[in-house]
Amino acid sequence: MKKYTEIQDIPNIQDAIKEAILLKMDPFEYKELGKNKTLVMLFFNASLRTRLSTEKAAKNLGMDVMSLNVNEAWQLEFDDGTIMDANTSEHVKEAAQVISQYADVIAVRAFPSLKDKAKDQSEYILKSFEKYATVPIINMESATAHPLQALADAITITELTEKKVPKVVLSWAPHPKALPQAVANSFATMMQEMDVEFVITHPEGYELDPEITKNVPIVYDQKEAMRNADFVYVKNWSNFKEYGQVLNTNPSWMMTQEKLGNAKFMHCLPVRRNVVVEDAVLDSEQSVVIKQANNRTFAAQVVLKNILESL
Ligand code: CP
Repeated sequence: MKKYTEIQDIPNIQDAIKEAILLKMDPFEYKELGKNKTLVMLFFNASLRTRLSTEKAAKNLGMDVMSLNVNEAWQLEFDDGTIMDANTSEHVKEAAQVISQYADVIAVRAFPSLKDKAKDQSEYILKSFEKYATVPIINMESATAHPLQALADAITITELTEKKVPKVVLSWAPHPKALPQAVANSFATMMQEMDVEFVITHPEGYELDPEITKNVPIVYDQKEAMRNADFVYVKNWSNFKEYGQVLNTNPSWMMTQEKLGNAKFMHCLPVRRNVVVEDAVLDSEQSVVIKQANNRTFAAQVVLKNILESL
């Protein structure tokens, strides 16, 4: 693997899941692979799980790790030809090349503005690092995608399913703040690669990018969508058409134990209790959110292992 900025970078997802499960059984088997190699992690936005699990994965492989909260460094310019006489102090052209001299792999987290759809969809931050860095790039959640999370979710479903073809539902949830579509996008993309029956449910008007959801059934009746579900992945996203708007906060979309039935509850975390999901669900045996978070390490580790092997 030469990079991991999107799910499509994985040559064979089933093989990657199997390899991640093997790494989980013996996390230090490849501890020599990353010796004298450095992962630099760049954070334009906050993180708990991605930061710690990716660092842990790198260390399991014997890598050194350096992290930078980019907003505490020089403010970067991304546009070409700008007269940089305002707030930006350094162009990504120099920054990416400089960081590449300190790193064997660069991982980037950069959320969307949720204000300028075209700019967000262009993935200009991630793509600038891909363009100007001279080492492989990993996406730790960009404007439109969170492929490390989706790989962890696929590992979790594979480990926990009791059926050959489980029914998996992605259910929108209310949230007071405008959140990106990235997690939902990557989960929808990943589920289309898996041997699952996949359904999306959300209020009318909350359609994700149709280039991502393609022919996945969208059922506006949440109860109907969740009938006989084995896994229910709950996630808020802000409106994609009325870009970045919070047009619906209807609490009836919150996940409850009654609605969940016998399904397993999934969420990428962090999650707002009793807004997105009620306490009774999160505190029940049916919640697999802690297992998902654990699998973030092995998703990152299988990606790093494959990138290190390609250097
Ligand atoms: N799920 C996830 O990406 O968590 P963090 O935002 O804490 O990294």
